[in-house]
Amino acid sequence: MSVLEQTASQKAIELENKYGAHNYHPLPVVLNKGEGVYVWDVEGKKYYDFLSAYSAVNQGHCHPKIVGAMDEQARTLTLTSRAFHNDMLGKYEKFACEYFNFDKLLPMNTGAEAVETALKICRKWAYEKKGIDENEAEIIVCENNFHGRTTTIISFSNDPVARENFGPYTKGFIKIEYDNLEALEKHLESNKNIAGFLVEPIQGEAGVYVPSEGYLSKAKALCEKHNVLFIADEVQTGIARTGKLLAVDHENVKPDLLILGKALSGGAYPVSAVLANDEIMNVIQPGNHGSTFGGNPVAAAVAMAALTVVKEENLAENAEKLGKLFRDELNKFIENSNICKLVRGKGLLNAIVINDSEDGDTAWNICLKLRDNGLLAKPTHGNIIRFAPPLVMNEEQLLDCVSIITETLKEFEK
Ligand SMILES: Cc1ncc(COP(=O)(O)O)c(C=O)c1O
Repeated sequence: MSVLEQTASQKAIELENKYGAHNYHPLPVVLNKGEGVYVWDVEGKKYYDFLSAYSAVNQGHCHPKIVGAMDEQARTLTLTSRAFHNDMLGKYEKFACEYFNFDKLLPMNTGAEAVETALKICRKWAYEKKGIDENEAEIIVCENNFHGRTTTIISFSNDPVARENFGPYTKGFIKIEYDNLEALEKHLESNKNIAGFLVEPIQGEAGVYVPSEGYLSKAKALCEKHNVLFIADEVQTGIARTGKLLAVDHENVKPDLLILGKALSGGAYPVSAVLANDEIMNVIQPGNHGSTFGGNPVAAAVAMAALTVVKEENLAENAEKLGKLFRDELNKFIENSNICKLVRGKGLLNAIVINDSEDGDTAWNICLKLRDNGLLAKPTHGNIIRFAPPLVMNEEQLLDCVSIITETLKEFEK
């Protein structure tokens, strides 16, 4: 190849840059195949996927059972809209309600839509059941949250990049410090208009911040005391990622509204949902909310297969076991490292903190080197790298990944 000829990767990146909106800053690697814990680039190089599409591909790439269910359903019936019934939606709703132990499910497509759905249900419940005066309901959220990027959701984000020049912002949200029960209690005690408390059981995008033990269960108890809905956004932490089916299960908390997305489909298809019991979900009546694609037959078939795989393959147990091993191994390395200061996480949702300023580029450069060494990961914020491989990984593969990561980090030791 002459020096002027472009590689297949360069061509693909150039097309995206020229014709696509620049709303992401991807690591320069172009993938065209995935299987289990591996992905391949267009030049045929094989990598460990250590991000899993932000925890959507928990069941591994192209899981045959999930792809099989999708293929079969796609050949039969793909979309009816909710103008008519289809024979898969009810089956899926029953399956998921029994699986997660709720009365009802409201199907949507993306995580952000499911968050919006939960916020709407919460507000409606507040006016019709709790008796808050019209337009006065407020929902408590946490600083450094990430719940998606719709206009309402960015209204209560404190990420300037997601917010700037997208105002005016939606009212009705109060931001408190994450992992701060006193702040939560103070607002609940002093404000009769609080309808809900929206929280990520672990703040994933912010950099995998695990709250203190007891935070979730105590927050739930405070919400119960004040007749406020506890809304768990498990879009990233749910479906076995943290070593339990849900991250709230670590503290035996049952949310009033449970938000799921990502791995609900194993990454095969956009599927999200909100689950709640009847006294809450029944505030939603025909016309209040909906989506053309939400609850379509392919989504229903895919989600049932994806959830079945999680149980059949004991993915929560595997995430718990391999997560401990990963942190133990990284902690051994950190003892003698200057470049990596900390590893934290739960199950297979982990992050390392790189010894650099938050606006430094060391974490990005480490990710480029990891790529060269056969492992794909990405910084979350500045100096934090998130590590979230598919949960179908085995111990040998995990140790291989640990060695790629530690050998790469050694190249950056100061
Ligand atoms: C906790 C959480 N909520 C919501 C979302 C938004 O999901 P989506 O990108 O599917 O809209 C994300 C995405 O990363 C997330 O991590």
